[in-house]
Amino acid sequence: MVIGEGPGQEEDLQGLPFVGRAGKLLDRMLAAAGLTDRVLITNTVFWRPPGNRTPAPHEQVICAPFVERAIQLTAPRMLLLAGGASAKSLLKKDEGILSLRGRWFEWRSADGSLELPAMPTLHPAFLLRQPGAKKRAWSDLLTFTERLDRPERPA
Ligand code: URA
Repeated sequence: MVIGEGPGQEEDLQGLPFVGRAGKLLDRMLAAAGLTDRVLITNTVFWRPPGNRTPAPHEQVICAPFVERAIQLTAPRMLLLAGGASAKSLLKKDEGILSLRGRWFEWRSADGSLELPAMPTLHPAFLLRQPGAKKRAWSDLLTFTERLDRPERPA
């Protein structure tokens, strides 16, 4: 499962996550990594924050039970957290995305019943503004895909 920050204008109009410019870049990256049709995509909040600002922590807290329920119902093997606001909200970390990205963390459900590997990465909208950062996001995606495709060892 890929979890972004929140819908932009195009996402708000269509009622779908990542369908605007950043979404198109995300789609190309997922396709290049062989992940098309293997991922579910959602956001930490389900409405467009006014002025397209980053969702505030209290807004993410309101939506968190729905994100968590989506994780429980769809049972992904791992989470890719796109952008600092997603990583901080899901992992409850204060570090910036440039330090969090590309590292593995453990996401835990609020009741502690579910744990999943989770990797923060750079947000595709950031990559549109800073194309030089694409190689770091690509490296994250390859690390993520390598673990996804690694045969699971019996417990
Ligand atoms: N940015 C996000 O974080 N999510 C979207 O759905 C679109 C852009």
